[in-house]
Amino acid sequence: RITRNRAIAIDGPSGAGKSTLAKALAQELGFLYVDTGAIYRTVGYFARSRGVDTKEEAAVKALFPHIRLDMTYSPDGLQHMILNGEDVTEHIRLPEISLCASAVSAHPAVRAFLMEMQRDMARRYNVIMDGRDIGTVVLPDADVKIFLTAAPEARARRRCLELEQRGTPEPYEKVLREIEERDYNDSHRAAAPLRAAEDALTVDTTYLTFDESRDALLRLIEERIGR
Ligand code: DC
Repeated sequence: RITRNRAIAIDGPSGAGKSTLAKALAQELGFLYVDTGAIYRTVGYFARSRGVDTKEEAAVKALFPHIRLDMTYSPDGLQHMILNGEDVTEHIRLPEISLCASAVSAHPAVRAFLMEMQRDMARRYNVIMDGRDIGTVVLPDADVKIFLTAAPEARARRRCLELEQRGTPEPYEKVLREIEERDYNDSHRAAAPLRAAEDALTVDTTYLTFDESRDALLRLIEERIGR
């Protein structure tokens, strides 16, 4: 086993509600929420800020010696990404960083570079970890594996709402196109593509409210690990 702590893996496409739900569940269960997409985003952000083509594996790999990544948590459980001593938590959320993150995440070298950091969190804490390959690659022996999905249109609508609330609205059509593009990239890459683990429980949130989704996941988790 990779860890003797409890581990819950939540994988799925972007915008299915992974992070919001995982955060709420982590609070409920007293687990640490680990957002692995933020780690890929930080590498994508760094590559972009250095003017490197994120599609070029060798160029991205050459940056590794210049990357020092740390994750810290504020008392309310919010995960902060620290890149070479600078808190980039806000910067990595910009929409243009999403595609950079998706591009760098396709490179096996990047995935290998970031693997240990993710496993290390699971060794040290009870975690609820979200991403694309947590149940399949990072924590294959997680206690509970959930594959969270929703129709692209539903995910685009939610993302639009979120961007609006953040004060950076984007047109629905553009958001939908980007979601479809990322779905394609993330599930067609050769290295650890997005897919449900064989022993994952699939939950489709297209027609579920947030509360309904949270309750459904909580039931599944409690059935498997108790409380
Ligand atoms: O979850 P997110 O949208 O913040 O993730 C950003 C990108 O990182 C996503 O397009 C795919 C990649 N990613 C990944 O390949 N593996 C993970 N475990 C998490 C994210």
